[in-house]
Amino acid sequence: MINLAESNPTRVDAALPGGDILPALARPGCLSYEPDPRGLPSARAAVAAWYSSCGLTVDPADIFLSASTSEAYGWLFKLLADPGDSVLVPKPGYPLFEYLAGLEGVESIPYPLEYRHPRGWRTDLDALESALWSKRPKAVVLIHPNNPTGSYVDPGERPRILELCRAAGAAVIADEVFLPYALEDGPEPGFAGETGTPCFVLNGLSKLLGLPQMKLGWIVLAGPKEYREEAAARLEIVADTYLSTGAPVLHAAPELLPRAPDFVRVLRSRLSSNLALLKDILEGELSPYRVLRCSAGWTAVLEVPRVTSEEDLALGLLREERVFVHPGYFFDFPREAFLTVSLLPGPEDFREGAERLRRYLDRRVG
Ligand SMILES: Cc1ncc(COP(=O)(O)O)c(C=O)c1O
Repeated sequence: MINLAESNPTRVDAALPGGDILPALARPGCLSYEPDPRGLPSARAAVAAWYSSCGLTVDPADIFLSASTSEAYGWLFKLLADPGDSVLVPKPGYPLFEYLAGLEGVESIPYPLEYRHPRGWRTDLDALESALWSKRPKAVVLIHPNNPTGSYVDPGERPRILELCRAAGAAVIADEVFLPYALEDGPEPGFAGETGTPCFVLNGLSKLLGLPQMKLGWIVLAGPKEYREEAAARLEIVADTYLSTGAPVLHAAPELLPRAPDFVRVLRSRLSSNLALLKDILEGELSPYRVLRCSAGWTAVLEVPRVTSEEDLALGLLREERVFVHPGYFFDFPREAFLTVSLLPGPEDFREGAERLRRYLDRRVG
């Protein structure tokens, strides 16, 4: 079977750098317990140094380390919302946020992204504005770039979105886990340098180094100084209640984070060539399929004629060609028929999987 839905970097072939991390995890410092609600200072300094290598000055005091960005979302929902409050999340999107919000008793309300070919995805600003005023959410989640649409917050729309959030009193949660993986557009700047609107920027080793199993993520507080100070004091209580980061990865962070640019370079080149290959195999004159604009990230979206359901297509592909993709409805696309394809697999598997996919689609819907 070829898994073109694989999003776990530890399960794709070993050609990606990063396999030699074990020595970094065996530091003597790991044997002592040094609780700090923000996380070990040397690890926070390593995160600040990584931002500095990206041209951004981040004060280590504005960094909170967590076990993952998923956990960081939970902390932020506790910080910003009371049970019964709401947050806005983009749709289509990764189906994690509804659970993360729900587990805090917080409602996640979708705001739509719209697609126009070949320009790409944009935020429906009218819908966002109307939801901000009618639902009074405590936060707006911006996934920059979004998964699986691969779309950045559009640079032309960004000031307006920040302005709307500021005016409506909603904080921004900017999820930047895929930010370095620019493909057809970008790179775009992140939100860690934001000074006007309260912003919580999320990232971690999961995507930056392909190490989701190491469990290290972080929140950077950005925005007006007084807001940051108050938020930090309160977030300290949340983080201190859990103290969830583990000593081995904290002590390894100063050695691991400087490897991020190499990892990103190698993986980005694989993602780009897989995307080009997918277009080569699936598109072309008179092809009824199209690969949607994929500005950045690890996933491509394929649109196919809607002659049967996405579910039927995906199951048939699995049975007849032994290729696994995700149907678009997993991610709440506004209509059918979309299939999402992970760009992570190694080049041989990817080519074989994409060729089988084309063969199958030609039989079923072409
Ligand atoms: C946009 C986005 N944010 C966050 C996560 C979760 O990352 P972590 O492993 O840091 O919890 C994912 C997982 O794929 C994701 O797609």
